[in-house]
Amino acid sequence: MIDQTKLPNELVFVEYSDYNEVARAIKTLIVRGAPAIGVSGAFGLALAALQSKATTPEQLLSDLEQARKILFETRPTAVNLAWGLDKIMQVAKQGDNVESIKQSIIKTAQEMAEDDIKINMRMGKNGSILFDNNDTIMTHCNAGSLATVAYGTALGVIRATKESGKNVKVIATETRPVQQGSRLTAFELKHDGFDVSLIPDTAVGYSMANKLVNKVVVGADRVLRTGHVYNKIGTYQVALMAKQHGIPFYVAAPLSTFDMKSNPQDVIIEQRKATEVTQIGDKKTAPDGINVINPAFDMTPPELISGIITEAGVAKPPFVESISKLFEANK
Ligand code: MRU
Repeated sequence: MIDQTKLPNELVFVEYSDYNEVARAIKTLIVRGAPAIGVSGAFGLALAALQSKATTPEQLLSDLEQARKILFETRPTAVNLAWGLDKIMQVAKQGDNVESIKQSIIKTAQEMAEDDIKINMRMGKNGSILFDNNDTIMTHCNAGSLATVAYGTALGVIRATKESGKNVKVIATETRPVQQGSRLTAFELKHDGFDVSLIPDTAVGYSMANKLVNKVVVGADRVLRTGHVYNKIGTYQVALMAKQHGIPFYVAAPLSTFDMKSNPQDVIIEQRKATEVTQIGDKKTAPDGINVINPAFDMTPPELISGIITEAGVAKPPFVESISKLFEANK
């Protein structure tokens, strides 16, 4: 995988052969983005299977269960991680000998990686019809190739719109404190030849009020059956501001990002370390000992969302009905 903490200064690929290293990579944001950590979790379990010295399926399952716990506890908000781990555990429970279980786990992880790209391309196509020639589209955080196996969710929609022959520009927010927007989205889109401008998070209102942007699309870490969307901290502010200015606000997320069981009060918002806020890189930007509140995600309520783009179609308000229809049709 690419070490995303080194971007945009260095493009470094890292390889892991121990699932503990994969867990550390997820925790430290070497790999990040909901679909990317889902598939990384699956490959982490594939490594755990290869590392296991088990001679019986029961022992192998117990080794996998231990690895699952370590991988799962890295990040609590994106539901794709649990989805990826659970999918592998289901496959592991079906085999009747150690070797065949190991092989089917590896095959499933590889299929999940391939499927992720196909799903993103389908999602992109479904979303592209919502965007017009000469649109300027704002996005927050990084929901691109880097956040997935390839192509991206929100950036996949922008890619597909461009591939359909429409001319689009992009405004990427910086996305403090970790700067996924400036370090990753701006890098990825510039690398791929998009017309992209970077703004500080504080210029979202200015850009909307001055008509520099006419649509928004973001990714998601978790979508509830009610249409409540959990995404990178600051998404809620972007959505509120879009509502104020009558700008359509879209979310692009695969069905693996939906959590059809939880209610808003059940969702754990990851709180990250203070130094992400008190420093920029290694440089101190706040006084020693300052109290810091550093939530990694926020919740955007359904009334601010114009549509949720998935590989199975676009859900429009009221979301309880439209989301359940998408799942019914995808059974
Ligand atoms: O903390 P991160 O960088 O993992 O947060 C990522 C996001 O919030 C993305 O917008 C989300 O995962 C969608 S990725 C296709």
